[in-house]
Amino acid sequence: MPLVTSQAILKAAVEGRFAVGAFNANNMEQVQAIVDAAVEERAPVILQVSQGAILYAGLEFAAAMVKSAAAEANVPVVLHLDHGTDFEQNVRCLRAGFTSLMFDGSKLPFEENVAITSQVVDFAHMCGIPVEAELGRVLQSTDSVSEEDVRNAMTNPDQALEFVQRTGCDSLAVAIGSVHAMQAAAAELDIERLKAIRAKVADVPFVLHGSSGVKEESEVEAIQYGVAKINVATMLNVAFTEALRKAIADQPTQVDPRKLLVHSRDAVKEVVRHKIRLFGSSGQVTASGFVSPKTVHRTANLGGAEE
Ligand code: G3H
Ligand code: ZN
Repeated sequence: MPLVTSQAILKAAVEGRFAVGAFNANNMEQVQAIVDAAVEERAPVILQVSQGAILYAGLEFAAAMVKSAAAEANVPVVLHLDHGTDFEQNVRCLRAGFTSLMFDGSKLPFEENVAITSQVVDFAHMCGIPVEAELGRVLQSTDSVSEEDVRNAMTNPDQALEFVQRTGCDSLAVAIGSVHAMQAAAAELDIERLKAIRAKVADVPFVLHGSSGVKEESEVEAIQYGVAKINVATMLNVAFTEALRKAIADQPTQVDPRKLLVHSRDAVKEVVRHKIRLFGSSGQVTASGFVSPKTVHRTANLGGAEE
């Protein structure tokens, strides 16, 4: 089916107390693994492309891979920009057919984050495309962060309410104790903080970044308090690369990349399947279809024909 936007899917996830997996893809094997797992699990899925992935694969090529995989799938697939750090990147992705955007202004002062997020939201909404924004900051494990750093970067509940009201963003990435790019699931989320944010911001789906480093029980608990999109990247890369290393070691004379990469694709697919089941999104697409996911409308209603 054609790509769908993330809006209806995330709304249904909040109501149904499950989360949609948002899996990062950098190459064809990862795209196929993610979509195949979602189809087999009857789950809606978000495929997200980071700015790094765009640099690696090229914007049009990355978008074309996801569109092509979605066209063959009978579950809703969203193409999402992950951590877009400027207005222009969001515009380019909108033009390339992305059905969900993110402006990440988490490194900016509050007012600047509000201003640029609002611009992106205004622009994207003209085309019916939803926008994720970030307040507070999910740090990078490569920056050797301390517990205090993580705590200081967490989302402030009062500011979250003001931010959502002023920007009109459709979903909010919250900093509640996770750190990007951890290779072991060791972090506990601050569920009390999440509840406090929920008490202020009732209607917007929350997004968990940096999930590879979070304990699974903690992820499941967070889903009960409004986390409806969970981003998964590092653990897919770990599975891909470990399988590739093993395949090369097992077949030292093999020169056909397909015979090596097929193992990476299978390994990624199994991690995606596991996460889809953990998040409760397995089986959410029934024979009668998913809770009416809206397909993309590219014609904004900007006035009558005579104008
Ligand atoms: O935006 C992507 C993510 O937040 C993924 O985080 O690499 O720790 O799984 P991760
Ligand atoms: Zn992230």
